Amino acid sequence: MKHLLGIEDLTGDHINDLVTLAVSLKSERGKYGSRPLENQTWGMIFSKSSTRTRVSFEVGVYELGGRPLFLNSNDIQLGRGEPIKDTARVLGRMVHGCIIRTYDQQDVVDFANYSGIPTINALTDEEHPCQILADLLTIHEKLGTWEGKKVVFFGDGDCNMGRSWAWAAKRLGFDLTIAAPPEFQPQAEFMNRLGEAPVTITDDAEAAARDADVLYTDTWISMGKEAEAEQRLKTLAPYQINHDLLKLANSGAIVQHCLPAYRDKELSEALLEERASEIFDQAENRLHAQKAVLVRLAEDHLNV
Ligand code: CP
Ligand code: NVA
Repeated sequence: MKHLLGIEDLTGDHINDLVTLAVSLKSERGKYGSRPLENQTWGMIFSKSSTRTRVSFEVGVYELGGRPLFLNSNDIQLGRGEPIKDTARVLGRMVHGCIIRTYDQQDVVDFANYSGIPTINALTDEEHPCQILADLLTIHEKLGTWEGKKVVFFGDGDCNMGRSWAWAAKRLGFDLTIAAPPEFQPQAEFMNRLGEAPVTITDDAEAAARDADVLYTDTWISMGKEAEAEQRLKTLAPYQINHDLLKLANSGAIVQHCLPAYRDKELSEALLEERASEIFDQAENRLHAQKAVLVRLAEDHLNV
């Protein structure tokens, strides 16, 4: 694995390997271990806000022996119009890897191509692969496996999270249902690219919740979509995860949210607080899953 640009680019074997490694890194945290990023500096270019991704990568790089270098895109010349390919060619000569959060997926692809250093997608409008790896680690911990489980994504199914979940279902073969109103379902162009996959799309939230093992949601207003807030809140209201919906799911079903959570919008406050331990375990798993990504990218970079 040279880069992590999307779940789309991974094989099922890659994903299984990363989750297995994350399990051991989690159990070994704080004990003496190898420092595969020793003497390395990893850039972190962020054009959007972040709590979990930023902190987990800064801590993760540090724990693996490296130094994170956080670069708000507004503080570097990128924010004044310097092209991503020039930024990439400069950073590629100075840092050992780069973690990027931005809008356009093509910017992350271009950075990887022009920089020549391992590049990680820390969220674009297209995908959020780091989140999915942490979510799979959480499902593995809480349910033992994702094999034979029904994962249901409620809400804006046409956002980065819905798309990354669809690729994960395709690569790993578990059943994914996306419950969303027609205008927030994955669009035809994406579904054509996805091809054959165990993904069901429905506008019926109750039917989707029946026999679910994982009820998953995300904000209804992704970063960059603020101007559409009013219409989104109205249209997506029937897709809130709450106790009524949970009653339809399998006993033992878990509730997951990538966070940040907007209470009584995509998830009821009561259910969020009741299931806080599993939701914040999921947030913690960002650290362990991303350390696994950093380890594999550092190893593979040395092998080329
Ligand atoms: N889930 C997630 O990516 O959170 P942040 O936006 O806080 O990084
Ligand atoms: N879909 C959300 C995810 C936030 C972690 C967004 O892009 O803002």
